[in-house]
This record gives sequence, structure tokens and C-alpha cells, in this order.
Amino acid sequence: MEMPESLEDLALDSRWPAFFPSAISLVTTCDGKHTALEKVVGASIVNRFPYVVALSFCKQAISQRHHSRASFMEVLESGECAAIQFLAPGPILSRVMEVIGEIPDERTQTRLDATGLKTRPAHTNRSPVFSEAYMVYEARFAKPGKDFEGQPIYPTPWIDIGSHRVYFLEITAIQLHQDIAGGPSRIYWRSLPAWAPRSEIMTRQVSQDLPLANQYIKGYTPHYVFPSGGTIAYEADTIVDGMAVKCLPPLAVDQVEVDNDRARWPCFFPSSAALITTWMEDGCPNLMPCGSTTVLSRHPMVIAPCVSYSAINQRYAPRATLSSIRQSKRFGCAVPYIHDAIVNAMRYAGNISFASDRDKVANSGLEVSRHEWAPLLPALPIHYDCEVIGEVRLGTHIMFLGEVRRIRVRDDVSVDNPMEWYPWAEIDASGAATYK
Ligand SMILES: Cc1cc2nc3c(=O)[nH]c(=O)nc-3n(C[C@H](O)[C@H](O)[C@H](O)COP(=O)(O)O)c2cc1C
Repeated sequence: MEMPESLEDLALDSRWPAFFPSAISLVTTCDGKHTALEKVVGASIVNRFPYVVALSFCKQAISQRHHSRASFMEVLESGECAAIQFLAPGPILSRVMEVIGEIPDERTQTRLDATGLKTRPAHTNRSPVFSEAYMVYEARFAKPGKDFEGQPIYPTPWIDIGSHRVYFLEITAIQLHQDIAGGPSRIYWRSLPAWAPRSEIMTRQVSQDLPLANQYIKGYTPHYVFPSGGTIAYEADTIVDGMAVKCLPPLAVDQVEVDNDRARWPCFFPSSAALITTWMEDGCPNLMPCGSTTVLSRHPMVIAPCVSYSAINQRYAPRATLSSIRQSKRFGCAVPYIHDAIVNAMRYAGNISFASDRDKVANSGLEVSRHEWAPLLPALPIHYDCEVIGEVRLGTHIMFLGEVRRIRVRDDVSVDNPMEWYPWAEIDASGAATYK
């Protein structure tokens, strides 16, 4: 399918033309006079130091689905702060989603009352926090600063991209329910969609003798359980109102963790992953799994992977993908799914740089087909061809703004054989995950 669509077509149906796995979160804000509540699709951690979450809201009337969130954005812009929060699936979450669906943006300020739920102020800003939330990210507008190379970052706390305005919010504190922080409950998150291809998916035999030795290995499983043996230990400063609260140092330089393990995200945040493909300068294909990838705008449709450029440690070593995207101004964005061969390929390609393995894609076990725009991985069901229309320097990561020019979908993705995705994490005290 060629993109972008016409505004007339979008007015009739502005659903995403193909699937991209995104989590949903709830956002509240307060400017001292008014409070506001919205839901946001695809909130994404886009930078590590400073620790920044990006939230994108529609500012144009495209269709009934995509309409302006002007009132919410007005309160957000005058309050300059937010609480991004997560409720466990169930009647309370359903109620909040209903309220957001039923009460229009012009009356966003009445939504909180309409939920009938108790709230309390966040610790580091005025945004209301649902007492029922199991996890809360408190954040304020990112302030202008300099990155580790002395280059300016965040001259403005938001940018306009097509139909949407994208806000950069620096995380100031995290609250995690004490039953999760200290047991017995855990968070279950299935970070990739489930899907069963109907035909051969074209993978290769992987050699056991690959250059992964002597380096830091970033583990990966799409069946994420937090906390668990493979995740970071959540280090709270205090417990208040049943929540284990961790405050982040106000300056990015004081947040920096050089140790590869400690530099991981300090707590769970729901994200998925895309496979970003590029042709390298020498004509070889490259592949980079990218968890910080999100859809930022609907018209034109813009997909934004965030690629590390900082040399803090091995975990965040500058990516070969960075220079190839900059050079070609193009990338492919493929949607992975739960399948052993694909997850193994992600583990390999997500730990080895093209700089140390020119046969990285073949060694990951995936076949590539020649496609001029960007390498096409026939095993993967959905491919977006993206053209770089800009890049944003965020501190440790560069956010590439990739306008979708073409979408390819395998013909065995169909109404009879859909990709299954659940945008909410589940909380369970029993140790058994129940995915819907
Ligand atoms: C699941 C997963 C998600 C990742 N997400 C990101 C990300 O969001 N940004 C980033 O810069 N690197 C991310 N990485 C690490 C890169 O994929 C990895 O450094 C890769 O080897 C870079 O390849 P290149 O140097 O050939 O471009 C991720 C790795 C995995 C396994």
C-alpha cells in the first residue's frame, strides 16, 4: 500500500492502515487550576540520560477517531507536568476508558470526577494519581540542556509532527505498588504480538560459533515478568501510600550509570520492539531490534525509532544503524512476533553490531530479500518503508522521524489469521500469567 493516504480517505477511516504493537497508558495533568485526563497510545521511553518519555497527542481534526485533544494539551502545556499511570485490566480500567471515550476533550476536566475514583497528588508535581494505579511515572517538561557532547537538547519541550504534537517529558519519580516492588505480585507483559504464519517463513540455520563472546549480552524475552531473575532490581527510596517510590536525580549527569546492568531502565515500562533494517554504505543489509520505536503521527504516518549515539558504555555504544540511516535517509521497520527463530534473531542482532559482524543479518538466522528501499525480511509479516524527514537529538538517543511511504503485509496476515496483541500488562500474585 502506498502512503500517505488522502485526507478524504482518512476522514472515512483513520485506523492505522497496518498493525504496530503499542501499549496504552493513562495520563493526567494539572496546572494548579484544572486537571485533565487522557489516554495515550504508544507512550515510549525515548532516551536514557536524561530519562525521557514521549507522549503524542492529535492536534488536527482528521476523523472521528483522530480529533484534536486541544483542551487536554492546554492544561498539559500550562501545567508542564504529567503522571503516566497504569491500572490493572479489570472493571476499574474499563470504567476509566469508558469515561475517556464518553466525555469529549472539551470537557476533559470533568473526566477525573466522572471516574468516581480516588486520586492523590503525585510526589514531584501536581498531577492527580489514581489510588488504584499499580505503577506511575511522574514527569515534567524536558528543559533545554546539553548532551554529553555539549550539543543542545530540548530547546522546546514539544515538537509538531504532522497531525500530532509530541511532548518530551523528563521522568522525575516512579511509583510501583509495594506488592510488586517487594512481592508477592508481579507484572506480566507480552511485548510482541502472537501470530502463526501459514507458510514457510524463510529462516537460516544459525552457526553456534558466532562472535558474541567477551561482550555484554542484553537478554531478551517477549514474555516479560517484572520483577524476576532477569530484570533489574527496583531500588525505591521510600514507601508512601502503599507505593515504593523512586525519585530520579534532577540532573542527567547525576543519573548516569556507567555499569551496563545498572544502566538498564530502572523499572518496567511497557514497550514492544521493531526490527529496523538498513542498507549499509557497502551494500550489506543490517538489522537492529529497537524497543524505543513508536508511531508519533497519523497524517502523515510517522514511525520513530530511537537509536543510541552515546558512548557511555557497551550497552549504549553508538549503533552502526545510526550512520546508515543518516546516510541513506531511509529505513525499514518490520514488526516481529513470538516465534523462536525471530526471537533468536532479535537476541543476536540486538547484541552484535554490524561493526563487528558484516554478516550479521545472515548470522541472526533471517533471510533478506533485495528491496531497494531497505532490506526486506520475508519472515516478518509487516514492513513499513520509512523516509527520514527529521531527527531529534535527545541526550543519549537520536529519534529518527520516519514518514511511512509504503506498507507491505504478508498475505497470510488476514481476518482469519490476525496478529494478536494485548496493549495492557497484567498483574498477578499467583505466578501464572493470563494473557487475553
Ligand atoms: C529487544 C531489544 C531492544 C533494543 N532496543 C534498542 C533501542 O531502542 N535503541 C537502541 O539504540 N538500541 C536498542 N537495542 C540494542 C541494539 O539493537 C544493538 O545495540 C544492536 O546490536 C545495534 O546494531 P548496529 O550497531 O549494527 O546498528 C535493543 C536490543 C534488543 C535486543
